[in-house]
Amino acid sequence: MSFKIIGTGMAHPALAVTNSDLSKYVDTSDEWISSRTGIKSRFISTGESMLDLSVSAAKTAVCNSGLDAGDLDLIICTTMQGDYVTPSLACLIQRELGAACPAFDINAACSGFIFALDVAAAYFDAGRAENILIVSVEMMSKYLDWNDRATCVLFGDGAGAAVLAKGAGLRAIKITAKGDDELLFIPGNTGNSPFAGKEHKEQYVHMTGSEVFKFAVSAMIRDITDVLAAAGIGTDKVKKVIPHQANLRIIRSAAEKLNLRDDQLVLGIDRYGNTSSASIPILLSELFETRELESGDIVVLSAFGGGLTTGACVIEI
Ligand code: ACO
Repeated sequence: MSFKIIGTGMAHPALAVTNSDLSKYVDTSDEWISSRTGIKSRFISTGESMLDLSVSAAKTAVCNSGLDAGDLDLIICTTMQGDYVTPSLACLIQRELGAACPAFDINAACSGFIFALDVAAAYFDAGRAENILIVSVEMMSKYLDWNDRATCVLFGDGAGAAVLAKGAGLRAIKITAKGDDELLFIPGNTGNSPFAGKEHKEQYVHMTGSEVFKFAVSAMIRDITDVLAAAGIGTDKVKKVIPHQANLRIIRSAAEKLNLRDDQLVLGIDRYGNTSSASIPILLSELFETRELESGDIVVLSAFGGGLTTGACVIEI
């Protein structure tokens, strides 16, 4: 049974920050960032909240789907953390849209959108929903040490959304988790309890870049191979692959091993940087917007991120 994608949307903050702009704040250069990562620019919030971006992306997706907010049976938001610890972003999105359905957040870091698709598929298969809205939104600029050139140049802020309806578009999906708080983590708030006696840690992204790089390439190759095999489809039948946008060199290394052609790869890292779980739905939304996808096209999504989590799926449009 499962689902079809019937509407998409995306949003980003107004301010685009180029590599040259960044080089005014940290010791870096456009040459280093472009050649090591493929990133040329990213959008950074100057005041837009995560809810602002979420609602903008969600309203576009719902409008494009032809549904009303009242038709939604569930709202899933993927984010590492919303504007508040509680309420969840999903609940506030529900209020702003004027929907009345249950709503909750999922944290699977950059793999969030694919984890949400997996949860949504289970709701559809159990007959518990006709229409589900997924909103993936991240504001990585809040979690960066802007003095650390090794991480602050990599990320951007943004939101992507998709409305799913009952249908037969999901051909295969897998998600994985391997608990790890060494390679990639953002410490939680330690609070100021007089009883805890714990060392305060700044809430910044910590990453062992070269290890995450190796993990990412091998995970993408493994997951895409697995879901294509489960769907009984060869790479030649795939119209587009939307990989998580963390580093162009990760994408190119995996694509080469998978024998993917350049025209199959969907890229936005040059314009958005790494927007974590929003990366894939932002590009999916662009593909629908530019009418590059037709009914029956096969699209593969693949992501990896903190957790460590990974996910991939094969979708027929
Ligand atoms: N500008 C200039 N020089 C820099 C910068 C910068 N922005 N950042 C690091 N350098 C320097 C380093 O200090 C180092 O200098 P040294 O040799 O004098 O010590 C040199 O460049 C090389 O640094 P490396 O870290 O070895 O660079 P590498 O080629 O490995 O690239 C990168 C680093 C881009 C982070 C890469 O490892 C990578 O992309 N890793 C994967 C990242 C990723 O996928 N993250 C996913 C996160 S998703 C999530 O869930 C949050």
